[in-house]
Amino acid sequence: MTCHIGFVGAGNVAARHARVLSGFPDVRITGVADTDAARAARLARECGATPYDSHTALLRGERLDAVYVCVPPFAHGSIELDVLAAGLSLFVEKPLALDEETALRVAAAARDRRAVTAVGHHWRYMDVVGEARRRLDGRPVRLALGVWLDKVPPVPWWTRRDASGGQVIEQAVHVLDLARLLVGEVAEVSAHESGYPPDQAEGAVGAATGALLRFRDGAAGIIGATCLLGWKHRAGLEVYAEGIALRISEDRLVIDSGRGHEVVTEPGDAKRRVDRAFVDAVLRRGEDVRAPYEDALRTHRLACAVARAAVSGTPVTLDGG
Ligand SMILES: NC(=O)c1ccc[n+]([C@@H]2O[C@H](COP(=O)([O-])OP(=O)(O)OC[C@H]3O[C@@H](n4cnc5c(N)ncnc54)[C@H](O)[C@@H]3O)[C@@H](O)[C@H]2O)c1
Repeated sequence: MTCHIGFVGAGNVAARHARVLSGFPDVRITGVADTDAARAARLARECGATPYDSHTALLRGERLDAVYVCVPPFAHGSIELDVLAAGLSLFVEKPLALDEETALRVAAAARDRRAVTAVGHHWRYMDVVGEARRRLDGRPVRLALGVWLDKVPPVPWWTRRDASGGQVIEQAVHVLDLARLLVGEVAEVSAHESGYPPDQAEGAVGAATGALLRFRDGAAGIIGATCLLGWKHRAGLEVYAEGIALRISEDRLVIDSGRGHEVVTEPGDAKRRVDRAFVDAVLRRGEDVRAPYEDALRTHRLACAVARAAVSGTPVTLDGG
Protein backbone atom coordinates (compact mmCIF):
# COMPACT_ATOMS: atom_id res chain seq x y z
CA MET A 1 0.00 0.00 0.00
CA THR A 2 1.24 3.45 -0.89
CA CYS A 3 0.24 6.70 0.78
CA HIS A 4 -0.14 9.48 -1.81
CA ILE A 5 0.67 12.84 -0.27
CA GLY A 6 0.29 16.41 -1.45
CA PHE A 7 1.85 19.54 0.08
CA VAL A 8 0.32 22.97 0.51
CA GLY A 9 3.11 25.41 1.29
CA ALA A 10 6.58 24.64 -0.05
CA GLY A 11 8.79 26.59 2.37
CA ASN A 12 11.26 25.54 5.09
CA VAL A 13 9.16 23.14 7.11
CA ALA A 14 7.57 21.58 4.03
CA ALA A 15 11.05 20.78 2.70
CA ARG A 16 11.89 19.09 6.01
CA HIS A 17 8.76 16.91 5.96
CA ALA A 18 9.28 16.13 2.28
CA ARG A 19 12.84 14.93 2.99
CA VAL A 20 11.61 12.63 5.76
CA LEU A 21 8.61 11.33 3.79
CA SER A 22 10.76 10.68 0.70
CA GLY A 23 12.71 8.19 2.82
CA PHE A 24 9.61 6.08 3.50
CA PRO A 25 9.15 3.25 0.96
CA ASP A 26 5.36 3.41 1.26
CA VAL A 27 4.96 7.15 0.52
CA ARG A 28 4.77 9.05 -2.77
CA ILE A 29 4.64 12.84 -2.82
CA THR A 30 2.70 13.53 -6.00
CA GLY A 31 1.80 17.23 -5.86
CA VAL A 32 3.14 20.43 -4.29
CA ALA A 33 1.12 23.67 -4.14
CA ASP A 34 2.42 27.11 -3.22
CA THR A 35 1.16 30.60 -4.09
CA ASP A 36 4.83 31.28 -4.92
CA ALA A 37 5.20 29.33 -8.19
CA ALA A 38 9.00 29.14 -7.99
CA ARG A 39 8.84 27.53 -4.55
CA ALA A 40 6.22 25.03 -5.67
CA ALA A 41 8.35 24.17 -8.70
CA ARG A 42 11.55 23.72 -6.65
CA LEU A 43 10.10 21.39 -4.03
CA ALA A 44 8.06 19.51 -6.65
CA ARG A 45 11.25 18.92 -8.66
CA GLU A 46 13.06 17.59 -5.57
CA CYS A 47 10.19 15.16 -4.87
CA GLY A 48 9.41 14.15 -8.44
CA ALA A 49 5.96 15.72 -8.01
CA THR A 50 3.73 18.08 -10.01
CA PRO A 51 3.71 21.76 -8.99
CA TYR A 52 0.46 23.72 -8.50
CA ASP A 53 -0.21 27.40 -7.79
CA SER A 54 -3.07 26.81 -5.34
CA HIS A 55 -4.39 24.14 -3.01
CA THR A 56 -7.60 23.94 -5.02
CA ALA A 57 -5.63 23.12 -8.19
CA LEU A 58 -3.71 20.46 -6.21
CA LEU A 59 -6.92 18.87 -4.95
CA ARG A 60 -8.39 18.89 -8.47
CA GLY A 61 -5.22 17.57 -10.11
CA GLU A 62 -4.15 14.70 -7.84
CA ARG A 63 -5.64 11.56 -6.31
CA LEU A 64 -4.37 11.93 -2.76
CA ASP A 65 -4.70 10.14 0.56
CA ALA A 66 -3.38 12.99 2.70
CA VAL A 67 -2.26 16.61 2.57
CA TYR A 68 0.49 18.34 4.58
CA VAL A 69 -0.47 21.97 5.28
CA CYS A 70 2.77 23.89 5.84
CA VAL A 71 1.71 27.51 5.42
CA PRO A 72 2.23 30.54 7.72
CA PRO A 73 -0.37 31.14 10.47
CA PHE A 74 -2.36 33.74 8.45
CA ALA A 75 -3.01 31.29 5.58
CA HIS A 76 -4.81 28.54 7.53
CA GLY A 77 -8.54 27.89 7.27
CA SER A 78 -9.97 27.34 3.81
CA ILE A 79 -7.08 25.00 2.91
CA GLU A 80 -7.87 22.60 5.76
CA LEU A 81 -11.64 22.86 5.19
CA ASP A 82 -11.21 22.00 1.48
CA VAL A 83 -8.85 19.09 2.27
CA LEU A 84 -11.37 17.68 4.77
CA ALA A 85 -14.30 18.24 2.38
CA ALA A 86 -12.37 16.15 -0.17
CA GLY A 87 -12.34 13.29 2.37
CA LEU A 88 -8.55 13.33 2.86
CA SER A 89 -6.35 12.95 5.93
CA LEU A 90 -4.76 16.12 7.23
CA PHE A 91 -1.35 16.98 8.68
CA VAL A 92 -1.07 20.60 9.84
CA GLU A 93 2.08 22.36 10.98
CA LYS A 94 1.72 24.37 14.16
CA PRO A 95 0.36 26.89 14.90
CA LEU A 96 -3.12 25.88 13.79
CA ALA A 97 -4.04 29.43 12.79
CA LEU A 98 -3.74 33.08 13.75
CA ASP A 99 -6.83 32.90 15.93
CA GLU A 100 -9.07 30.46 17.80
CA GLU A 101 -12.14 30.76 15.54
CA THR A 102 -10.41 29.37 12.42
CA ALA A 103 -9.03 26.40 14.36
CA LEU A 104 -12.42 25.72 15.97
CA ARG A 105 -14.04 25.57 12.51
CA VAL A 106 -11.40 23.16 11.19
CA ALA A 107 -11.68 20.98 14.33
CA ALA A 108 -15.46 20.76 13.89
CA ALA A 109 -15.06 19.72 10.23
CA ALA A 110 -12.44 17.10 11.16
CA ARG A 111 -14.77 15.73 13.84
CA ASP A 112 -17.71 15.56 11.40
CA ARG A 113 -15.58 13.76 8.83
CA ARG A 114 -13.88 11.48 11.42
CA ALA A 115 -10.71 12.40 9.56
CA VAL A 116 -7.23 11.18 10.46
CA THR A 117 -5.43 14.34 11.60
CA ALA A 118 -2.05 15.19 13.08
CA VAL A 119 -0.29 18.40 14.08
CA GLY A 120 3.46 19.02 14.01
CA HIS A 121 3.99 18.92 17.78
CA HIS A 122 6.97 16.64 17.28
CA TRP A 123 8.26 17.24 20.85
CA ARG A 124 5.66 14.67 21.89
CA TYR A 125 7.76 12.05 20.10
CA MET A 126 11.00 12.84 21.94
CA ASP A 127 12.30 9.97 24.08
CA VAL A 128 13.25 12.43 26.81
CA VAL A 129 9.59 13.43 27.22
CA GLY A 130 8.61 9.81 27.86
CA GLU A 131 11.54 9.48 30.27
CA ALA A 132 10.46 12.64 32.11
CA ARG A 133 6.98 11.18 32.60
CA ARG A 134 8.48 7.93 33.92
CA ARG A 135 10.71 9.80 36.37
CA LEU A 136 7.78 11.83 37.69
CA ASP A 137 6.13 8.45 38.37
CA GLY A 138 2.73 9.93 39.09
CA ARG A 139 4.03 12.74 41.33
CA PRO A 140 2.03 15.89 40.54
CA VAL A 141 4.05 18.76 39.10
CA ARG A 142 3.62 21.84 41.27
CA LEU A 143 5.74 24.28 39.23
CA ALA A 144 6.53 24.55 35.49
CA LEU A 145 9.01 27.07 34.05
CA GLY A 146 9.03 27.30 30.26
CA VAL A 147 11.19 29.45 27.97
CA TRP A 148 11.65 30.22 24.28
CA LEU A 149 14.64 32.55 23.94
CA ASP A 150 15.51 32.97 20.31
CA LYS A 151 16.14 35.18 17.28
CA VAL A 152 13.58 36.45 14.78
CA PRO A 153 13.16 33.53 12.33
CA PRO A 154 14.29 34.35 8.75
CA VAL A 155 10.81 34.36 7.13
CA PRO A 156 9.28 37.67 5.97
CA TRP A 157 5.88 37.26 7.63
CA TRP A 158 7.06 36.45 11.16
CA THR A 159 7.41 39.93 12.69
CA ARG A 160 3.91 41.04 11.61
CA ARG A 161 1.39 40.35 14.35
CA ASP A 162 -1.45 40.00 11.83
CA ALA A 163 0.53 37.36 9.92
CA SER A 164 2.18 35.24 12.63
CA GLY A 165 0.16 35.94 15.79
CA GLY A 166 3.33 36.60 17.79
CA GLN A 167 6.03 34.51 19.38
CA VAL A 168 3.87 32.63 21.89
CA ILE A 169 1.43 31.39 19.24
CA GLU A 170 4.23 30.79 16.70
CA GLN A 171 7.02 29.25 18.78
CA ALA A 172 6.42 28.95 22.52
CA VAL A 173 3.38 26.83 21.61
CA HIS A 174 5.75 23.81 21.68
CA VAL A 175 6.54 24.56 25.33
CA LEU A 176 2.88 25.14 26.20
CA ASP A 177 2.03 21.81 24.59
CA LEU A 178 4.65 20.07 26.71
CA ALA A 179 3.35 21.81 29.84
CA ARG A 180 -0.16 20.49 29.10
CA LEU A 181 1.29 17.00 28.65
CA LEU A 182 3.33 16.96 31.88
CA VAL A 183 1.26 19.16 34.17
CA GLY A 184 -2.32 19.22 32.86
CA GLU A 185 -4.84 21.71 31.55
CA VAL A 186 -4.55 25.41 32.33
CA ALA A 187 -7.42 27.26 34.01
CA GLU A 188 -6.24 30.88 33.83
CA VAL A 189 -3.43 32.97 32.34
CA SER A 190 -2.16 36.49 32.76
CA ALA A 191 0.66 37.95 30.72
CA HIS A 192 2.69 41.03 29.91
CA GLU A 193 4.38 41.94 26.65
CA SER A 194 7.24 44.34 26.06
CA GLY A 195 8.78 46.20 23.09
CA TYR A 196 9.29 45.24 19.44
CA PRO A 197 11.96 43.20 17.64
CA PRO A 198 14.93 45.19 16.23
CA ASP A 199 13.90 47.71 13.48
CA GLN A 200 10.19 47.00 14.05
CA ALA A 201 7.41 49.25 15.34
CA GLU A 202 3.65 49.25 15.94
CA GLY A 203 1.90 46.34 14.23
CA ALA A 204 4.87 44.08 14.94
CA VAL A 205 4.94 41.17 17.36
CA GLY A 206 6.14 41.80 20.91
CA ALA A 207 9.86 41.42 21.62
CA ALA A 208 9.31 39.71 24.96
CA THR A 209 6.43 38.06 26.79
CA GLY A 210 6.13 36.92 30.39
CA ALA A 211 3.11 34.81 31.36
CA LEU A 212 1.75 33.36 34.57
CA LEU A 213 -0.35 30.18 34.33
CA ARG A 214 -2.69 28.66 36.90
CA PHE A 215 -3.27 24.99 36.09
CA ARG A 216 -6.64 23.41 36.91
CA ASP A 217 -5.11 21.34 39.72
CA GLY A 218 -3.58 24.48 41.24
CA ALA A 219 -0.02 24.05 39.91
CA ALA A 220 1.82 27.24 38.95
CA GLY A 221 3.49 27.95 35.63
CA ILE A 222 5.71 30.73 34.30
CA ILE A 223 6.50 31.15 30.61
CA GLY A 224 9.08 33.56 29.16
CA ALA A 225 9.71 34.25 25.48
CA THR A 226 11.89 36.68 23.58
CA CYS A 227 13.04 37.10 19.98
CA LEU A 228 15.63 39.79 20.79
CA LEU A 229 18.66 37.54 20.41
CA GLY A 230 20.71 36.83 17.31
CA TRP A 231 20.75 33.11 18.07
CA LYS A 232 18.58 30.34 19.54
CA HIS A 233 19.62 30.61 23.18
CA ARG A 234 17.30 28.13 24.89
CA ALA A 235 13.90 26.53 24.45
CA GLY A 236 12.45 24.07 26.89
CA LEU A 237 10.52 23.35 30.06
CA GLU A 238 11.53 22.74 33.66
CA VAL A 239 9.09 20.93 35.93
CA TYR A 240 9.30 20.50 39.70
CA ALA A 241 7.51 17.89 41.81
CA GLU A 242 8.18 16.59 45.33
CA GLY A 243 11.86 15.63 45.46
CA ILE A 244 12.59 15.96 41.74
CA ALA A 245 13.60 18.66 39.25
CA LEU A 246 13.47 17.93 35.49
CA ARG A 247 14.81 20.13 32.68
CA ILE A 248 13.64 19.14 29.18
CA SER A 249 14.99 20.59 25.96
CA GLU A 250 15.11 19.36 22.37
CA ASP A 251 18.44 17.64 22.90
CA ARG A 252 18.41 16.39 26.49
CA LEU A 253 16.69 15.78 29.80
CA VAL A 254 18.49 16.78 32.99
CA ILE A 255 17.26 15.04 36.13
CA ASP A 256 18.10 16.17 39.65
CA SER A 257 16.73 14.31 42.63
CA GLY A 258 19.33 15.60 45.07
CA ARG A 259 22.16 13.20 44.21
CA GLY A 260 23.75 15.24 41.41
CA HIS A 261 22.68 15.69 37.79
CA GLU A 262 21.79 12.83 35.50
CA VAL A 263 21.70 13.66 31.79
CA VAL A 264 19.65 11.69 29.25
CA THR A 265 20.47 12.58 25.62
CA GLU A 266 17.65 12.81 23.08
CA PRO A 267 18.37 10.59 20.05
CA GLY A 268 16.86 13.24 17.76
CA ASP A 269 14.42 11.05 15.84
CA ALA A 270 11.22 12.89 16.81
CA LYS A 271 10.86 14.78 13.50
CA ARG A 272 10.87 11.47 11.64
CA ARG A 273 8.55 9.72 14.09
CA VAL A 274 5.85 12.38 13.84
CA ASP A 275 5.63 11.77 10.08
CA ARG A 276 5.88 7.97 10.39
CA ALA A 277 3.04 7.89 12.93
CA PHE A 278 0.82 10.00 10.66
CA VAL A 279 1.47 7.84 7.58
CA ASP A 280 0.81 4.66 9.61
CA ALA A 281 -2.49 6.14 10.81
CA VAL A 282 -3.50 7.10 7.25
CA LEU A 283 -2.68 3.58 6.04
CA ARG A 284 -4.56 2.13 9.08
CA ARG A 285 -1.40 0.41 10.27
CA GLY A 286 -0.86 2.24 13.52
CA GLU A 287 -2.45 4.46 16.18
CA ASP A 288 0.40 6.58 17.48
CA VAL A 289 -0.68 10.07 16.44
CA ARG A 290 0.15 11.91 19.66
CA ALA A 291 -1.23 15.35 18.71
CA PRO A 292 -4.39 14.96 16.65
CA TYR A 293 -6.01 18.26 15.62
CA GLU A 294 -8.56 18.09 18.45
CA ASP A 295 -5.83 17.88 21.10
CA ALA A 296 -3.60 20.47 19.44
CA LEU A 297 -6.63 22.76 19.47
CA ARG A 298 -6.40 22.89 23.29
CA THR A 299 -2.74 23.90 23.09
CA HIS A 300 -3.55 26.49 20.43
CA ARG A 301 -6.37 27.95 22.55
CA LEU A 302 -3.95 28.21 25.47
CA ALA A 303 -1.40 30.04 23.30
CA CYS A 304 -4.13 32.39 22.02
CA ALA A 305 -5.23 33.03 25.62
CA VAL A 306 -1.66 34.02 26.58
CA ALA A 307 -1.41 36.32 23.55
CA ARG A 308 -4.78 37.89 24.38
CA ALA A 309 -3.89 38.37 28.04
CA ALA A 310 -0.59 40.00 27.03
CA VAL A 311 -2.25 42.50 24.70
CA SER A 312 -5.23 43.30 26.97
CA GLY A 313 -3.37 43.26 30.27
CA THR A 314 -6.32 41.31 31.71
CA PRO A 315 -6.29 37.69 32.91
CA VAL A 316 -8.02 35.19 30.60
CA THR A 317 -9.98 32.20 31.92
CA LEU A 318 -9.96 29.03 29.79
CA ASP A 319 -12.77 26.46 29.41
CA GLY A 320 -13.12 24.52 32.63
CA GLY A 321 -11.14 27.16 34.53
N1 LIG B 1 7.14 22.06 14.02
C1 LIG B 1 8.27 22.66 13.68
O1 LIG B 1 9.34 22.32 14.16
C2 LIG B 1 8.26 23.80 12.69
C3 LIG B 1 9.47 24.24 12.14
C4 LIG B 1 9.44 25.28 11.23
C5 LIG B 1 8.24 25.88 10.89
N2 LIG B 1 7.08 25.44 11.45
C6 LIG B 1 5.81 26.09 11.13
O2 LIG B 1 5.48 25.88 9.77
C7 LIG B 1 4.82 27.03 9.24
C8 LIG B 1 5.56 27.46 7.97
O3 LIG B 1 6.88 27.83 8.31
P1 LIG B 1 8.03 27.91 7.20
O4 LIG B 1 9.29 28.22 7.92
O5 LIG B 1 7.97 26.72 6.34
O6 LIG B 1 7.55 29.21 6.39
P2 LIG B 1 7.95 29.62 4.89
O7 LIG B 1 7.64 31.05 4.75
O8 LIG B 1 9.33 29.13 4.60
O9 LIG B 1 6.96 28.74 3.99
C9 LIG B 1 5.58 28.95 3.94
C10 LIG B 1 5.14 28.78 2.49
O10 LIG B 1 3.71 28.84 2.43
C11 LIG B 1 3.37 29.50 1.21
N3 LIG B 1 1.98 29.97 1.28
C12 LIG B 1 1.47 31.03 1.95
N4 LIG B 1 0.13 31.08 1.77
C13 LIG B 1 -0.20 30.02 1.00
C14 LIG B 1 -1.42 29.53 0.49
N5 LIG B 1 -2.59 30.11 0.77
N6 LIG B 1 -1.40 28.43 -0.28
C15 LIG B 1 -0.23 27.81 -0.59
N7 LIG B 1 0.97 28.22 -0.11
C16 LIG B 1 0.98 29.31 0.67
C17 LIG B 1 4.40 30.62 1.09
O11 LIG B 1 4.49 31.11 -0.23
C18 LIG B 1 5.66 29.89 1.56
O12 LIG B 1 6.38 29.31 0.49
C19 LIG B 1 4.87 28.10 10.33
O13 LIG B 1 3.62 28.19 10.96
C20 LIG B 1 5.91 27.59 11.30
O14 LIG B 1 5.68 27.91 12.65
C21 LIG B 1 7.07 24.40 12.33
